[in-house]
Amino acid sequence: MYLGLKLFRMTKDINELSEPFGTEMNLTIPDFCLVILIGASSSGKSTFAKRHFKQTQIVSSDRCRAWISDDENDQSVSDGAFELMRQLVDLRLRARRLTVVDATNLLPSHREPFLKIARSNNAFVYAIVLDPGADTCLTRYQQRDDRNFPEKVLAEQLRQLSAGMSRLDGEGFREVFRLESQREIEQVILTTIPMRSDKRSQFGPFDIIGDVHGCADELLELLQTLGYQVELTGKGENRKAITIPPEGRRALFVGDLVDRGPNSPDVLRIVMDMINAGHAMTVPGNHDIKLLRWFNGRNVKLTHGLDLTIEQLGRESKSFNKRVHDFLDGLVSHLWLEGGRLAIAHAGIKTHMLGRSSRSVRVFCFYGETSGETDEFGLPIRYNWAAEYEGDTTVIYGHTPIPEPEWLNNTLCIDTGCVFGGKLTALRWPERELVSVPARKMYVKPIRPMAHPPPRPGIKLNRPDRNDDD
Ligand code: CTP
Ligand code: MG
Repeated sequence: MYLGLKLFRMTKDINELSEPFGTEMNLTIPDFCLVILIGASSSGKSTFAKRHFKQTQIVSSDRCRAWISDDENDQSVSDGAFELMRQLVDLRLRARRLTVVDATNLLPSHREPFLKIARSNNAFVYAIVLDPGADTCLTRYQQRDDRNFPEKVLAEQLRQLSAGMSRLDGEGFREVFRLESQREIEQVILTTIPMRSDKRSQFGPFDIIGDVHGCADELLELLQTLGYQVELTGKGENRKAITIPPEGRRALFVGDLVDRGPNSPDVLRIVMDMINAGHAMTVPGNHDIKLLRWFNGRNVKLTHGLDLTIEQLGRESKSFNKRVHDFLDGLVSHLWLEGGRLAIAHAGIKTHMLGRSSRSVRVFCFYGETSGETDEFGLPIRYNWAAEYEGDTTVIYGHTPIPEPEWLNNTLCIDTGCVFGGKLTALRWPERELVSVPARKMYVKPIRPMAHPPPRPGIKLNRPDRNDDD
């Protein structure tokens, strides 16, 4: 998805008009990720790394050997060198630093430890394969005086390269970039961009809105109370929401826009139109994700209000349904905002997950952690992660309906159970002022009474897992 190939036709004189002059290889990677260079000796890995990355970003097997034994060719300290590399990679990824592994990395067993470390740090991994051709590697190798291993070692590396590269795709790389000639290697333009959740450059003021669950009337009333002018007009294809926010303010939604309530399509319409106009951002909740899974033909149970949403969407046009699908498909698990001071995630987030992406980050953001046990109402017991939160980033979340929002360790749950007859709540940020409107009715009866206290920490945890049941 990140690799774009652009053909430029440049003209030196009129006779060369149709000759392709140059090709750019545009490689785009996030500014936080692990890059694994792959290539035989003398393929140009270290040259490539030096050209495209900061010296401190490069973890090189040669340098680690030299640090241990003053000799980058000393193969007898290779085990230690790779131990040191793994330590450095782990420490850097923990610190959320872009890191490049400069070693041959020709076998799956060489790459796997680094992929594992990246997984445990919720970091994407990109492979960049450098293959200028066997002849080029051999010629360069023969000209080098800093390599003292026999030529047959290089021949074996080149064999491993040609035998193993087709298997790279199943190893867990976010993307594999293959540079298959010296020309392609030289024409790389490498760009780094922030992770999609990394919105630290975005500043408030914000109005952060709790779980709406299809309560369109209450959402309109809440937005108006917050000073937004919202006009929801038209029928069918022409129905749209036009919103004028108060000067400089934007709305942030903590997800669970749909299910259970009377009008999920209008809620989606308001949120999507606000986002398109640049007046809002949202993260998805577990209900929104379940709807997306249904759209994608996955086997989901039509329970907990999804049946109602599907019925409501059935009365909408095909193009509206497609728009909803594409909108949900494009959402990111959490948003990290205001220079890192603020984050929103549907069920919450832990510090080491901010600005990172992996299955476990998504699972935590959508579902939180459950203890693996069920309560007296037959619902999964949710673990109160906020009770142990120690981060400097203020986390605003929803997911668990409560009668009144209460700050806990720099976190605030603002799901006040509107669809269960509670109220719809917003937090004005940075004012930290709560604004609520009451539910017009109890649209569904909660299975677990809202005032039921959340479980305290200390209960035994299973692995966090998907939980569609609440
Ligand atoms: N080189 C070159 N032209 C390039 C790239 C590399 O002449 N476009 C030369 C370098 O100057 C060096 C040799 O080829 O002398 C090997 O390049 P290097 O980047 O060090 O290759 P690596 O793949 O890092 O080799 P190794 O695995 O042995 O570290
Ligand atoms: Mg090298």
